Amino acid sequence: MALNDFDLVLFGGSGDLAMRKLLPAMYSRDVAGDLPDGSRIICVGRHQWSQEEFLQEVETTSKSHIKAPAEPQWAQFLERVVYVTLDATNVASYGALADVLRKDDSLTRVYYLATPPHLFAQICDNLAEAKLVTPNSRVVLEKPLGRDLASAKRINAEVGKVFAETQIYRIDHYLGKETVQNLLALRFGNILFEPLWRREWISDVQITIAEKIGVGNRMGYYDTSGALRDMLQNHLLQLLCIVAMEPPTSISSDAVRDAKLQVLRSLKRFTPTTLAQNIVRGQYRAGHVEGQAVPSYRDEPDAPEKSSTETFVALKAEIDTWRWAGVPFYLRTGKRMADRLAEIVVRFKPIPHSIFNQPTSSFQPNSLVIRLQPDEGLSLNLMAKTPGDSMRLKQAELELDFREQFKTPRMDAYERLLLDVLRGQLTLFMRGDELEAAWEWVEPILDYWEQDDSNPTPYTAGTWGPAAASALIGRDGLQWREEA
Ligand code: BG6
Repeated sequence: MALNDFDLVLFGGSGDLAMRKLLPAMYSRDVAGDLPDGSRIICVGRHQWSQEEFLQEVETTSKSHIKAPAEPQWAQFLERVVYVTLDATNVASYGALADVLRKDDSLTRVYYLATPPHLFAQICDNLAEAKLVTPNSRVVLEKPLGRDLASAKRINAEVGKVFAETQIYRIDHYLGKETVQNLLALRFGNILFEPLWRREWISDVQITIAEKIGVGNRMGYYDTSGALRDMLQNHLLQLLCIVAMEPPTSISSDAVRDAKLQVLRSLKRFTPTTLAQNIVRGQYRAGHVEGQAVPSYRDEPDAPEKSSTETFVALKAEIDTWRWAGVPFYLRTGKRMADRLAEIVVRFKPIPHSIFNQPTSSFQPNSLVIRLQPDEGLSLNLMAKTPGDSMRLKQAELELDFREQFKTPRMDAYERLLLDVLRGQLTLFMRGDELEAAWEWVEPILDYWEQDDSNPTPYTAGTWGPAAASALIGRDGLQWREEA
């Protein structure tokens, strides 16, 4: 679908996200020919930069995040970029933005708020007061979308005063990843799995997002957030929703979001007693990642000396529905882990009886592994006969590597999501009620930790997290896939 001509306004336009992800994503789409001729990217920030100084900043900071920038495309791309100095908290300074925006109401206007969330309400108010919100305007909200249920509700209410729900795009970049959308294709574009996709045939589901990186230069944000808020409340729960949702009636935004909301509302609520048994939090200590010595979380630059912020979380969730009752969903994420990977493992039940001269216990249950990172693909693990004259069965893999299968160029998650915003497609964005339902489920965990004086369990950087996480799943007679 060809895009309408647009003005894309990036608040936080000289910040880390704009430089690392947003501008490179727009450059790629420009090179692919997706951007209409007149469309512009208006970067807004407090810095008193001239246009030339800002472009120099883009040149030095952003260009290095593009794989193979080509001339003259890069120079052409820079012609779209405009810099406006603006104090987001001061409505008087919005005049500078008004001067730059084109007055034609038929143009798509997107306000992308890559700013701390405490500014969302004020920016929306100021845009309204400065009469910069047209019927064709949209607003994009970057995470963190609140830090608990109350703050998420506040953001929804405040932004909702200025923009209709259909104009609000809440980003979760995991939904822009190819494999996540492929999971929809796998489930609802094939007849094979859906009949088996239920408690009668599935024994458990594991969802892991493991990172090798530490906190880097984001300590200011991260230490007030932690793994639960930073990764689990959003990315992991979104993945869980896509795995567990009922078939939506169509791919339309509300059909998909209704189905996800139903999952979030069906998650079994934790109580202090169930929490003590079903959640593990950890914090990394000095160790080695890829042979390199790395410091303890508490020794990272700017880390509070006795920080009790978790850099790892693992939990066992359950979904109280006919489809899923009794099927554990194990979720896990952490920084400074042994490897970088994001994957979903759906394990099926064991065979009921062996007709071979092998005990039933020697049959690995079938499993489907959906890989998001580092490579994208699916493996279906089956039992197969080993070659030779005896009837011995062993596990074998059916492998689908998306990169091999489809040679077409790939899009980064932000490229896909930015295109969707510009096209007005909301399916891959969270609706306000979904956001609140996710916080509502997470909140008892936050409360429990707040009242608990104990610290997160230490784990050595470069490992799979605290032993307690293995014990959590081990209690059910299972192992995390990498530890099996
Ligand atoms: C972000 C988190 O949302 O996701 C980061 O704030 C994290 O802490 C990142 O590193 C991981 O994203 P990806 O796409 O690299 O897995």
